[in-house]
Amino acid sequence: MKFFVDTADTAAIRELNDLGMVDGVTTNPSLILKSGRDIIEVTKEICDIVEGPVSAEVVAKGAEDMIREGKHLAEIASNITVKVPLTWDGLKACKALSSEGHMVNVTLCFSAAQAILAAKAGATFISPFIGRLDDINLDGMQLIEDIRQIYDNFDFKTEILAASIRSVNHITDAARVGADVITAPPAVIKAMANHVLTDKGLAQFDADWAKTGQKIG
Ligand code: E4P
Repeated sequence: MKFFVDTADTAAIRELNDLGMVDGVTTNPSLILKSGRDIIEVTKEICDIVEGPVSAEVVAKGAEDMIREGKHLAEIASNITVKVPLTWDGLKACKALSSEGHMVNVTLCFSAAQAILAAKAGATFISPFIGRLDDINLDGMQLIEDIRQIYDNFDFKTEILAASIRSVNHITDAARVGADVITAPPAVIKAMANHVLTDKGLAQFDADWAKTGQKIG
């Protein structure tokens, strides 16, 4: 399973990348806003840090303008993945950009039907949003399972990029049901290291070690 980081915070990306935890990065207009930086400048810095795919999202609504923006973003670096929304125009842009050899991430996917269209349009990645489905009492993980089954039935090559991840359980469940990639905020990835029994065990070892009166080195 590949790990993408869902952020435009370059310090956080560097920290995880230095640990070998980063296979790619996803950004979106909200994350660019949060970074407070220019999209081209921050995306270039991310591409310099990370070897894997870095998703940068178009904001135009019509296919022609999406294609123009996508080509502009793709000039930033060779590892740019152009992110387009799962609209009819987004699918047209996906087809055009992928036919020209660009990696394309089709985002804002909320149904298996949408995921089929993205695969037919040549998407490199499909991004089903787990958290936002859970937010409205639908089952985000079931969507990942459904897409996995359909893509396997027909040997679609599009990779399932589980997005809108809010918890450690989202990551382990997405891994269990066969997502190819997860993208998660840095804090959720770091939270994977936490366990209450690890903390409890460490406290016990510290207390017992203090009683020995010994030192190492
Ligand atoms: C994915 O590419 C998106 O940037 C992201 O996962 C959206 O997550 P959110 O629903 O927490 O905003």
